[in-house]
Amino acid sequence: MTISIIAAIGRNNEAGKNGGLLCHLPVDLRHFKEITSGHPVVMGRKTFESLPQGPLPNRRNMVVSRNTGLKIRGAEVYPSLDATFLKSMDENEVFIIGGGTIYEQTLPIANKLYLTKIHADFPEADVFFPQMNFSQWRETSRETFPADGKNPYPFSFLEYERL
Ligand SMILES: NC(=O)c1ccc[n+]([C@@H]2O[C@H](COP(=O)([O-])OP(=O)(O)OC[C@H]3O[C@@H](n4cnc5c(N)ncnc54)[C@H](OP(=O)(O)O)[C@@H]3O)[C@@H](O)[C@H]2O)c1
Repeated sequence: MTISIIAAIGRNNEAGKNGGLLCHLPVDLRHFKEITSGHPVVMGRKTFESLPQGPLPNRRNMVVSRNTGLKIRGAEVYPSLDATFLKSMDENEVFIIGGGTIYEQTLPIANKLYLTKIHADFPEADVFFPQMNFSQWRETSRETFPADGKNPYPFSFLEYERL
């Protein structure tokens, strides 16, 4: 099973603010949907609560929470990340979709990274992606896009595999 992390981050590893994303980038939301559709997505309870329309369609939604009584319609709730991996061992690829606490715990064990690097600073950010040790990762893909009328900042889609 491949454990993949997917995240959209600012120049300084910013990842979220006030319980939500840094900015609205429709091209990135489409990219996220294309990459993750058909695969399980693992997320922290706060990220689940930030989803504007509840569980993500066409994906097995796996939420981690230490609240053992938590039940969510349309999602599986697990008490630990290990439990989510045990329950998805038969899957080809599992996507870790955030937030900050989950990225921090899974970066050491992930095999693949899909990063959207937004070329802007977000001083009001309160959630961050962990610092990467780039000597452990090989860049396998890079595509850069300019800002446009709908996407307020330039950004790059980057892919990495663990060496
Ligand atoms: N930039 C991006 O690509 C991206 C992606 C996703 C999210 N985000 C942003 O990130 C922010 C949310 O991130 P966050 O770090 O505040 O919260 P989070 O990681 O989404 O969720 C934290 C919660 O997950 C549960 N949890 C964490 N580790 C656990 C473990 N080992 N075992 C069991 N449960 C565990 C706990 O839930 P309980 O409190 O219920 O126990 C914890 O309070 C939002 O602003 C969101 O928009 C950004």
